[in-house]
Amino acid sequence: VEVIQDRRALRRRVHELRAAHLRLGLVPTMGALHAGHLSLLQRARPGIDRVAVSIFVNPLQFGPGEDLERYPRDLDGDLARLEAAGCDLVFAPSAADVYAPEARTTVQVEGLGDVLCGRTRPGHFRGVTTIVAKLFHLFEPQVAVFGQKDAQQAVVLRRMVRDLDWAVELRFAPIVREPDGLAMSSRNRYLGPDERRDAQLLSAALGAARAALEAGERDAAAVGGAARRVLESGRWLRIDYVELVDTERLQPLARVEGQVLVAIAAWVGGTRLIDNVVLEVGDTGVAESELRA
Ligand code: PAF
Repeated sequence: VEVIQDRRALRRRVHELRAAHLRLGLVPTMGALHAGHLSLLQRARPGIDRVAVSIFVNPLQFGPGEDLERYPRDLDGDLARLEAAGCDLVFAPSAADVYAPEARTTVQVEGLGDVLCGRTRPGHFRGVTTIVAKLFHLFEPQVAVFGQKDAQQAVVLRRMVRDLDWAVELRFAPIVREPDGLAMSSRNRYLGPDERRDAQLLSAALGAARAALEAGERDAAAVGGAARRVLESGRWLRIDYVELVDTERLQPLARVEGQVLVAIAAWVGGTRLIDNVVLEVGDTGVAESELRA
């Protein structure tokens, strides 16, 4: 796999691809790649000639006291995985190459970044939209793929692309889970064995919310309550939020109908985990759904 470490070299390569009329798909990541990331790579392929992955632990999206320093970094392991997965191009820049010390410009999507995770992580989504905007400019990809695991991020980025008239096609890929239901995340490796058992409660709680809906419950507080009770059984687990929101504005629902995002964030020990499910709730039943791109 071709590895490029600085922006100038990347621009040259991107210009060559464009001159050759090759369609480029981009999968932005922060590295520490797992099967979830590799599924994004496969999702990028249809209709695309070259697939690129960026690996960059973006300091701008970490708040003070968060895990920027200890975020797992494993470039050699990542490159081996990407090589095996048939990735064509990897961009792995240094922070100094990406952000000039005198930089003063950020990209912010109003409102959508303040709710859900934005309440405990102020500034996080501004960091995400800023780096993704820069990556879109550097790569000019025809397709970009993000995981639905970060559902709020997906909704924020979809708004950014629409608002700024980007021609890129976004694709969202379903969550990849461990056998016991735990959503794959680079942060799972922080979990000790007891915490790992409690971490499984996030997906179990989503299952309880879904079961309540399938039993006919349409009151959002009651559905959320079913999820909360599962989470409260965890010894090492502390709830950040359990919310049922619409998938465009991310506003809390009172009654559940149509497409709903059931989103959970919780600390398990010192590790903050998120999980979610998108459901289509109608008169006749409940079906798992995907965020519309
Ligand atoms: O989802 C992630 O890993 C990051 O938020 C992203 C999109 C790569 C931006 O740094």
